[in-house]
Amino acid sequence: MLGVIGGTGLTQLRGLAITRREIARTPYGEASQPLIFGELAGRQVVFLARHGGGHTIPPHAVNYRANIWALHAAGVDNLLAIATVGGIASDLNSGDIVLPNQLIDYTYGRKNTYHDGIEMPVKHIDFTEPYSASLRNTCLQAANKIQQTLVQSGVYACVQGPRLETAAEINRLERDGASIVGMTGMPEAVLARELGVHYAALCPMVNQAAGRGDSSNGINFADVTANLERTMQKVCALIEEIARIN
Ligand code: HPA
Repeated sequence: MLGVIGGTGLTQLRGLAITRREIARTPYGEASQPLIFGELAGRQVVFLARHGGGHTIPPHAVNYRANIWALHAAGVDNLLAIATVGGIASDLNSGDIVLPNQLIDYTYGRKNTYHDGIEMPVKHIDFTEPYSASLRNTCLQAANKIQQTLVQSGVYACVQGPRLETAAEINRLERDGASIVGMTGMPEAVLARELGVHYAALCPMVNQAAGRGDSSNGINFADVTANLERTMQKVCALIEEIARIN
């Protein structure tokens, strides 16, 4: 079954014919909200809003372990994450949707493994390619089918937040090789990998990163909101097609 984790700007999944809601208790606590089961494009889909239904949980306080555990326990084998980003690479524009193929983790203090030697034995997993090739391929196929432009690769820098970055920090991320920056991609991706769940992310770019282009003198939050609304419509169309193909 396809699972969708909605981020900022996507607390409900358009077109999902909801059949039931289920409170998800896990060995790691409760997920951000009850899991929402339904049908999209004639397929079973389960949806979870990462920041809670009322968008009250900041990125560093999300219970990522509970969220991924709950989705896996519900039968999710392919997990599509929606995660808004700022654009670092100069060839990216607000409104673009990026399908990252790599990531760099700058977060700290997050519970980022199931293999902590408490609930599960210590184990080192391979993470050379952090995103699922097959689910990325499904995303590319879906975009092609509905003629939605998708940026086919990118390096996602996951920062701690909730504050945005300084201009110097963005310069450093760029020197490190990152092209987009967000706050929630990790530990989501690695937890999915630990449970054997195929994971890919669609990253709507809602602003140029701090110190770049339109954001040279700061981030304009009114523009971010407008970009978010505009881009989420495209994201929803893509999710529907991904559900159909998956
Ligand atoms: N930085 C980090 N996270 C983000 C940004 C950003 O500029 N835009 C949206 N999420």
